[in-house]
Amino acid sequence: MNLPDSPIGSHPLPPDFASEIARSTGRLGTLARAVYWWPELDSTNRVAAALADEDAPEGTVVLADAQTAGRGRLGRTWHSPAGAGLYVSVVLRPAAVSSLVTLAAGVALAEAVHELTGLRCALKWPNDLYVGPRKLAGILAEAGSAAAGNHVILGFGINVSAGSRPQDVGARATSLEEELGRPVSRSALLVECLSALSARYDDVQHGRSAGVLAAWREWAAPLLKRPVEWDTAGGVARGVAEDVDASGGLIVRTPGGTAVVVAGEVRWR
Ligand code: BTN
Repeated sequence: MNLPDSPIGSHPLPPDFASEIARSTGRLGTLARAVYWWPELDSTNRVAAALADEDAPEGTVVLADAQTAGRGRLGRTWHSPAGAGLYVSVVLRPAAVSSLVTLAAGVALAEAVHELTGLRCALKWPNDLYVGPRKLAGILAEAGSAAAGNHVILGFGINVSAGSRPQDVGARATSLEEELGRPVSRSALLVECLSALSARYDDVQHGRSAGVLAAWREWAAPLLKRPVEWDTAGGVARGVAEDVDASGGLIVRTPGGTAVVVAGEVRWR
């Protein structure tokens, strides 16, 4: 591994992050062996992928206080104002790249938020965290090529405080502090997320996917059994979201039978 101690441009961790992480290494498993911080990046996923291409080990974590071009799923932008959220990317090198890793990450974030704050989110397939109708957090997993060693960059963004939101995002988003009405420590949240992620990732790596899927179903229960629609090559399809299958696809009951949605997103009707 020829990763520099501090990649060019990274800064020392803010003291609260450094001390939370140092206090918690015992429960972070292989995650957070190396944690890098930037006051501002275009995208933590882009930088983590560049580090992974340079052989950064599994568990390398890239953090930014703000992102200028945070990436969301489906080509969207993740609005990332300074100090208002947790913007994190983790280098993973799973035995097999599967969508179970991203489902497991959704479960881990829901567990972490609940553990730290008592707030129960609902998972919307595949791994968005919602509080009622508003989105609290999202996950973007980007797989590297075989030539780059089959890594997965697991990026997540959690809204911690309201920050400044573009108008189109405003009504559809929420943050922990808006929901709870009190301050939430970003460093404590990071450690809780990495700890839960470490445990759930370990489940996937060691064939305990049934437990991950069972947990996903519990967190997703408020949003299952509801009418949904999604885009297909032939137009908009409609049905009722029922369950996930063993590889993480969403099983939807349609007028014509059963469909499994494996990519993209579903919308509530
Ligand atoms: C989504 O719900 O669309 C996924 C959002 C993922 C955002 C995070 S923030 C940290 C990491 N870096 C990125 O550029 N994106 C992810």
